[in-house]
Amino acid sequence: MSITDNTFANENNSPLDNLDQWENDVLDRYPDPASINKDKKEEEFRNYEETSKDGVKEFYRLNHKYQTYDFVLEKKADYLKFDKREMPIWNAFDFLNELVDDSDPDTDLDQMQHLVQTSEAIRNDGHPDWMVLVGLIHDMGKVLCLFGEPQWGVVGDTFPVGCAYSDKIVYPEFFKANPDYDNKKFNTKLGIYTENCGLDQVHMSWGHDEYVYHMMKDYIPEPGLYMLRYHSFYSQHRENAYDHLMNEKDHEMFKWVALFNPYDLYSKNPNQKSWEELKPYYQALVAKYLPTNLKF
Ligand SMILES: [Fe+2]
Ligand SMILES: [Fe+2]
Repeated sequence: MSITDNTFANENNSPLDNLDQWENDVLDRYPDPASINKDKKEEEFRNYEETSKDGVKEFYRLNHKYQTYDFVLEKKADYLKFDKREMPIWNAFDFLNELVDDSDPDTDLDQMQHLVQTSEAIRNDGHPDWMVLVGLIHDMGKVLCLFGEPQWGVVGDTFPVGCAYSDKIVYPEFFKANPDYDNKKFNTKLGIYTENCGLDQVHMSWGHDEYVYHMMKDYIPEPGLYMLRYHSFYSQHRENAYDHLMNEKDHEMFKWVALFNPYDLYSKNPNQKSWEELKPYYQALVAKYLPTNLKF
């Protein structure tokens, strides 16, 4: 029996109507400082509260219960072989867009639009071209969903496994149901790690961030790799909850993670140029850094 065959097969593993619901929840937690004083449409807010909060909470219950150390190692052993598929990045984007849920009236953007809005906002601010590319590909790991992974193993705030969970992680009380919570090997502040060992030694909960990092690690400059790998690690890049595992290099590199995060969260742009118009630029950018075919 596989170590992760505990009971999640018996759960409803899709409590979110779509993956964007998790991102909307993050936005609710960390609102755009630029729009914070603008009138919030109360009706919209209430609507969100009623329809999404329960699903998001259930999503975190599952995420915190089943993202064990063993689960992470098992997923890494499987997916980091990259033996599932080989395709040009453009096919991967098409594949990703299958994630759109047309039945949900709140989903006005497909995945590709979020990626292009993020990358265009980075480009408009004059950042290096590899960072623009990072904007374009940062959520590509969500294809995990299309390989049959549960929502809670694809998106959600990420956190270290193999050591105590921080109470700065959203819904920390749900970790009590995780078997690692009572495991003496894992439930001390440092757990299996050593003080300031560096995040590269640390296993993060499994999801689209870790997956895309490994996919891209031979092609993108290191600050970009940090952005890919830790963009959902909110308990560190927003709350500094894991300084005890970080080394000096991590702190230096997290300045880039912090630079990237607002582009991910706050780049919605109703006046985005069309993909047809933007395509030549992005084709050249992709050709500059990435091979013709990517392995998934
Ligand atoms: Fe993401
Ligand atoms: Fe994103």
